[in-house]
Amino acid sequence: MFYIVNVDRNWAIGAAGDMLVHLKSDLKFFKEQTMGKTVLMGRKTYQSLPGQQALPGRRNIVLTRNKDFAADGFETVHSVDQVLALAATIDPDDFVIMGGANIYETFRPYCDHAIITKIHATFADPDALITNLDHLEEWEMEWRSGLIHDPQYDHERVIYRNRQVKPNPFVKRLKQSQE
Ligand SMILES: NC(=O)c1ccc[n+]([C@@H]2O[C@H](COP(=O)([O-])OP(=O)(O)OC[C@H]3O[C@@H](n4cnc5c(N)ncnc54)[C@H](OP(=O)(O)O)[C@@H]3O)[C@@H](O)[C@H]2O)c1
Repeated sequence: MFYIVNVDRNWAIGAAGDMLVHLKSDLKFFKEQTMGKTVLMGRKTYQSLPGQQALPGRRNIVLTRNKDFAADGFETVHSVDQVLALAATIDPDDFVIMGGANIYETFRPYCDHAIITKIHATFADPDALITNLDHLEEWEMEWRSGLIHDPQYDHERVIYRNRQVKPNPFVKRLKQSQE
């Protein structure tokens, strides 16, 4: 399991239910990194999708406490355990946490890496922020792209690696049930 996100200089990721900026080159990059995979999103991020349409070519999962939630093209889960049980059945490289802030924070300990686009800008009045991985001892920077010049916003891509991945208990249970 891994997560992918773009952040500003303060690790802000959203404002008023939307992204801080629709960075075209990053949307393309996001598509390439997630195509063919399973993507997990919180209900608020689902609501921010254009037309609330499922992302084509990907298995779309929404996490919500609302048992009545239903949307075409989306599967629904209602708890962290349900997510972990599902993730246990999928190749970890094919299970992507795609936000928002709440979901990144909840599943970060189970992620073995994170793909961060660092936008070289500071946006006013963000209301969704995530933890700066430079402040967490167990996370280390593994690779960085260097500065990418962009007509919208210059940015940089960084891969962080989690040295203390929290084991998904459902993987163990699944293995035991198959022995
Ligand atoms: N920059 C980026 O790359 C990026 C990517 C994605 C999103 N974003 C931004 O992030 C912001 C949204 O983030 P957010 O933190 O406000 O919302 P969110 O994480 O997208 O969704 C939160 C919702 O998920 C559900 N949820 C969370 N934990 C749960 C649990 N343990 N069990 C069941 N349901 C659970 C709840 O839905 P219910 O209330 O329905 O129960 C909760 O209200 C937006 O501004 C969006 O644009 C940015």
